[in-house]
Amino acid sequence: MSKSDPSLGQQGPRAGLSRRARDFFILGFCFCSVLFLLAATGELDFIVAFAAMAVLASVAFAYFVGSAAFLPVRSTARTQAPATVTRRLDSVQLLRALPLPAFEVDGDKRIVAFNEHADLILRLDGRVNPRASTVIRSPALLSAIDRIGRGEGDESLSVEVDSGPDETWRAHVSRPTGAEQTLVVLEDLTPVHRAARARSDFLANASHELRTPLTALSGFIETMRGPAKDDTGSWPRFLDIMAGESERMSRLIADLLSLSRIEFSEHISPSEHEDFTKIVLDATEALQPIASERSVTLELVGAEGALPVIAHRDEIMQVVENLLTNALKYTPAGGKVTVFYGNTPSMVEARAKAGHGWREGERMTLLPAAGRPGKPDPSVWLRIEDQGPGIEREHLPRLGERFYRADQSRGGKITGTGLGLAIVKHIMAHHRGGLAVETRLGKGSAFGIWLPAARI
Ligand SMILES: Nc1ncnc2c1ncn2[C@@H]1O[C@H](COP(=O)(O)OP(=O)(O)OP(=O)(O)O)[C@@H](O)[C@H]1O
Ligand SMILES: [Mg+2]
Repeated sequence: MSKSDPSLGQQGPRAGLSRRARDFFILGFCFCSVLFLLAATGELDFIVAFAAMAVLASVAFAYFVGSAAFLPVRSTARTQAPATVTRRLDSVQLLRALPLPAFEVDGDKRIVAFNEHADLILRLDGRVNPRASTVIRSPALLSAIDRIGRGEGDESLSVEVDSGPDETWRAHVSRPTGAEQTLVVLEDLTPVHRAARARSDFLANASHELRTPLTALSGFIETMRGPAKDDTGSWPRFLDIMAGESERMSRLIADLLSLSRIEFSEHISPSEHEDFTKIVLDATEALQPIASERSVTLELVGAEGALPVIAHRDEIMQVVENLLTNALKYTPAGGKVTVFYGNTPSMVEARAKAGHGWREGERMTLLPAAGRPGKPDPSVWLRIEDQGPGIEREHLPRLGERFYRADQSRGGKITGTGLGLAIVKHIMAHHRGGLAVETRLGKGSAFGIWLPAARI
């Protein structure tokens, strides 16, 4: 634990008192000796000498007691105040103040101090001074602790530690000058590694998705130049396929651009006051022609009045359009797609309205909204129900991942890039909202979103 400066700590009120008592005793003894000698040699009457000694002793005692009464106050003020100023943080306090997992290992290779982050990672479970080798499984880290502990050359070392299939840490091992313990600070590299992997997966997927229609296009061009050069009758069919493929490519590029635009502005919170009802009505109206073309009835069920939200209009419009496009795409001709929307006094209720409509449905929250616990959070919600084939349970957790398509494994003929829900998820996160899916195999699916309403 911390200690005050030793030189200050010695000067307590007791020390001051004993020094003064000693001085008074020496002075009194000398004066009394002089009086006694005078009395013994007859220079002074014994009675007078004793009376003088008694008076002197009383005055000295009165002065000593009187002055001593002030002594503790003065000495406390002088000694304790500087002690508080010079108080140092000890290693446990320093470890606790660190926002990273950190611990100290002594010369016997025992963990002698740690903070709560390290406790969670190392799972110390209240063990007292456990051996480092019993809690740390990484040979690299153990040998780094050993090397630094023995003071072999290096002053500090950084080693990467894999602590699971998906977890990577960097351990900074050092021994501060003059310290007996080795300090280990852990840094979580998992998010950095995950982001790097996601980036390379994304690039691989994007180039693969672009290559497929490109290969088809160049294949048909070759065919039309070569074997089918004179078979002009088959050209319209080839041209139709080529038009479809180039459309697919431009859709993919539009989605990729959209994703990167959303990611780019992710740190800018939406600030515009918008009417959620109007956005829902506009998006539905924009997709009415596609519904009619596919002979699907598009129905709107919701409040007519304005539902104010703080949102980015184009982004929320894109969310509704992406969800509606999917619903229309998977609903067979003659079926119905229903758009429900409204507002609720709390986010929990909005989430229930958006994501929980069928008793026997399989449901999953794909993005939990970042609500503020304990605060009123009036919200708006939207739920789009379709009469499509539904989605198998095992696909639900992966919906919203870039390029993930549940019907690919079913060999479905419905095309898509698998970016629509990823865009929805991103936009909803940007609006501190949520996304949920509910599905009944063979009967239909429902996708729901919710986000905070604006306070008027
Ligand atoms: N309403 C739905 N009914 C059934 N399956 C759906 C529905 N909505 C989404 N899915 C499944 O989720 C997958 C991902 O959807 P998403 O919108 O992200 O991609 P997409 O529609 O295939 O392509 P994109 O929207 O990028 O053109 C789809 O491929 C499909 O398997
Ligand atoms: Mg889609």
